[in-house]
Amino acid sequence: MEFGRLVLVLFLCLSASQGCGGGGASAAGPTAVPLMPSVMEVDPLKASAGSRLVGAAVQASLLGDTAYAAAVARHFAWVTPEYEMKWGQIERTRGVRNYGPADTIASFARTHGLQVRGHALVWHGDTPAWFEALSPAEASHALEDHIRTTAGRYRGQVNAWDVVNEAVADGAPGLRDSVYLRKLGTSYIAEAFRMAREADPSALLFYNDYGGEGAGRKSDDTYALVAGLKRDGVPIDGVGLQMHLDASSRPPVADIAANIRRLAALGLMVNISEMDVRIARLSGASSTRLDEQGRIYHDVVAACLTEPRCHAITFWGFTDRHSWIDSAFGPDDPLLFDEAYRAKPAFYGVLEALRGR
Ligand code: XIL
Repeated sequence: MEFGRLVLVLFLCLSASQGCGGGGASAAGPTAVPLMPSVMEVDPLKASAGSRLVGAAVQASLLGDTAYAAAVARHFAWVTPEYEMKWGQIERTRGVRNYGPADTIASFARTHGLQVRGHALVWHGDTPAWFEALSPAEASHALEDHIRTTAGRYRGQVNAWDVVNEAVADGAPGLRDSVYLRKLGTSYIAEAFRMAREADPSALLFYNDYGGEGAGRKSDDTYALVAGLKRDGVPIDGVGLQMHLDASSRPPVADIAANIRRLAALGLMVNISEMDVRIARLSGASSTRLDEQGRIYHDVVAACLTEPRCHAITFWGFTDRHSWIDSAFGPDDPLLFDEAYRAKPAFYGVLEALRGR
């Protein structure tokens, strides 16, 4: 396409409420030439998911954008607040709780008939700064207060909670050296699950982590942790495998499938909880890298579907326009739709896997 026209089409795609339209019926009018179908034109993912849930992380501040909101409602059956339900966001000042943004997401979900995955009651990465200064007894009390108040508030609205997030260490065996471990000892994990169950007996309770998706030390430590919780009668229902993958160094899919199977064999549900696939470090032409990304999405979703207890797949966003990856790892295109909300090979990889192809 001649360059000036390409720029015009891209501009129209970006400014049209439904992205780049096909069939001449888009908001951009007849000038818009279809390049790739938009998020509103391709088949809804959730329609092909059968009994499994397909979800996305969403941001409350973006739900006022009609194109963003319509895309979420079209494709996903459940949503995870990307940060709005984290403790540090809710109670930045001790005793002053702000549930506004979290409520926005819960209410959006209710309006559109979506389920909510609460995320995350206990996470070292977003804990209020004031928690650091507490004595062990005060810390225990504050954590209990937070779990009871937050899980209690969303009782009946949140279908599943990530109760504890990322408690397993990265470099060394065992648990992460977090503020929770230092103040409360190893029992904080079991206690958090017990409190969450009491606060909301109907929510499914998950342990969630990254870096243990395939084989290896962290995967084994995660397995040992949840097996121990299960053995001790702690009310845990499942495990979330975050699945933030780098296409250039991802675990073999066979290892992911085997890990899902062994976790399920403990009687736990498994979900893929935060999937995105970075491609910036792959070599080759853009189309080659996007195709490889599509294959990875396909194969991981297919691996989940082979295990009946792998009940849900959540992507950490849906459009490359809004992804945490750019700020955390550098510029990338990790999601299913591009910045103009057009379907990438990654979208088709997921769709085909859901359709059993
Ligand atoms: C990230 C969010 O995407 C960011 O917006 C936020 O600032 C920091 O947290 N693992 C998790 C998620 O469990 O909560 C993280 O989300 C990404 C890594």
